Amino acid sequence: MKVIKAANYDELSRKAAQIIASVVWNNPRSVLGLATGSTPIGTYKELIRMNKEGDLDFSQITTVNLDEYAGLDPSNDQSYRYFMNDNLFNHINIDKNKTFVPNGLASDLSAEGARYDAFIDSLGGTDIQLLGIGHDGHIGFNEPDEVFYKATHEVKLDAMTIKANARFFENEDAVPRRAITMGMWAIMQSKKILLIASGDDKRDIVERSINGPVTPKVPASILQCHRDVTVIYTY
Ligand code: F6R
Repeated sequence: MKVIKAANYDELSRKAAQIIASVVWNNPRSVLGLATGSTPIGTYKELIRMNKEGDLDFSQITTVNLDEYAGLDPSNDQSYRYFMNDNLFNHINIDKNKTFVPNGLASDLSAEGARYDAFIDSLGGTDIQLLGIGHDGHIGFNEPDEVFYKATHEVKLDAMTIKANARFFENEDAVPRRAITMGMWAIMQSKKILLIASGDDKRDIVERSINGPVTPKVPASILQCHRDVTVIYTY
């Protein structure tokens, strides 16, 4: 595991974007695993800048996102599809038909999970997976549990996650209670994993994830078992 301390959020964003850009330069047909949340916004801004300045071409890139709320239409400005369009896809030369987010509107979320995993498999997996981390150690929406869930699956969000995500909604009651998330298989099969964490409030969970025991009680600790992980943090 390569652990990099960035001086501040801007440096974290630049370094993270550079790692993603190297993957794209190396293979212009790469499959990028992407995340939502506040942490990657600066990284996406950097990628947009590089694209606008002509240094980075997304025309042949495919993306798969980690997760989506259940029951939110893609046109809902709180959906993760909307977030990705708004914070990245609308501003770069990517073919939106090659950008994928789990379907939170599917009537059978476990069938949707199986379809999503088979789809990622058919792409040959992701070349890089970008991750943020929740205060409880969640990656995607894989919350602390008794086991690591392998498949893309439906989850009931933890009280801590609902509270943390309420800042994007009118109030806590408006936060969806269920979501669909890539499981550990789809995350861990990625050739490269990049985890970014910003803020003093993430210090404790980042330390526990990278130095503590590997346990489903701290979902991000599973990353210790992957052979190519970079963690960039600032706090
Ligand atoms: C988002 C996701 C979540 C976030 C995590 C951290 O797709 O999968 O695991 O990465 O909740 O969110 P922020 O970056 O808002 O602190």
